[in-house]
Amino acid sequence: MIDRFNRKIEYLRVSLTDRCNLRCQYCMPESGVAKMKHEDILTLEEILRVIELLAELGISKVRLTGGEPLLRRGIVNLIRDIKSIAGIKQVMLTTNGVLLDKMADDLINAGLDGVNLSLDTLDKNIFKKITRRDSFENVFNGLQKVISGGLEVKVNCVPILGVNEGDILKIAALAKDNFIKVRFIELMPIGCAVDFAGVKTTKIKSQIEAVYGNLISVEKYNSLQGPAQYFSLPNFKGQIGFIDALEHKFCNSCNRIRLTAAGFLKLCLNSNDGLDVKKLLRSSISNENLIEELQKTIYYKPREHHFNENFDAEKMYQIGG
Ligand code: 5AD
Ligand code: SF4
Repeated sequence: MIDRFNRKIEYLRVSLTDRCNLRCQYCMPESGVAKMKHEDILTLEEILRVIELLAELGISKVRLTGGEPLLRRGIVNLIRDIKSIAGIKQVMLTTNGVLLDKMADDLINAGLDGVNLSLDTLDKNIFKKITRRDSFENVFNGLQKVISGGLEVKVNCVPILGVNEGDILKIAALAKDNFIKVRFIELMPIGCAVDFAGVKTTKIKSQIEAVYGNLISVEKYNSLQGPAQYFSLPNFKGQIGFIDALEHKFCNSCNRIRLTAAGFLKLCLNSNDGLDVKKLLRSSISNENLIEELQKTIYYKPREHHFNENFDAEKMYQIGG
């Protein structure tokens, strides 16, 4: 469907859980993370009902996020069910990869189309320092499995001053030997991340160019591809992408909406505008009326985000990025 600013809304991100099996320093505190109550989280049936209705409104791509979505029991069957909804063309997953090694085969068999894997370093010790967990090998094996399984793979790296700057070239090189995209994401100043400083995209670009040659802009813009600007490099099979949320606002081409684990339909990452879908789902509302509510809400998606003016304390792991 088209919103009031003429944006085609076709991409839904669904957060399946607020729990995570890592504790990345810029995302979650080590301890004292309050868990949501079981009954406060949408059931898989409720999630499917919402996606079916949103598919009627034109959603064609669904991304499952968290927290860590692979912690949600039933995710394999959920993927299979979402894939069978008329109108849904792609089901993707954003994961930290800890459970990917174990689950990759089942996920691929269920019809998963692609994986965005968060990986900030290729150094086991730095991994442990960032994530406070010793799971580097699991993640790296998982990455190999989804690449060899033929999924569309993107590696997301958040470079942080004084932490993993030294890994930027090694991570970029994953796109040299594999047909994958490696994206560098500028740290967004929300939640725990306010204690850290991200590395500027211009700095990352010059590091890469000094070693691998000139970045060549990939023109073809496809709004389903998201906010990254992609580049190819001589002798690279894959591509390098950059997401600098603060400097280049991409709100005018934003095609996405988000369903939180608590069942709130969020219209913008940094805005509380939206709809309490859970409340409606748990009333006796008909599909006809629910779809009307969804449509009205999406139409009023905000024009843009305001990270620069107002640092929302809301936590990334509750929204799913
Ligand atoms: N800024 C940018 N990216 C973040 N992520 C988590 N917190 C932030 C932040 N403050 C990233 C993770 C993961 C993706 C889901 O979001 O590293 O790649
Ligand atoms: Fe978990 Fe991702 Fe947050 Fe790390 S960044 S703690 S993997 S949700």
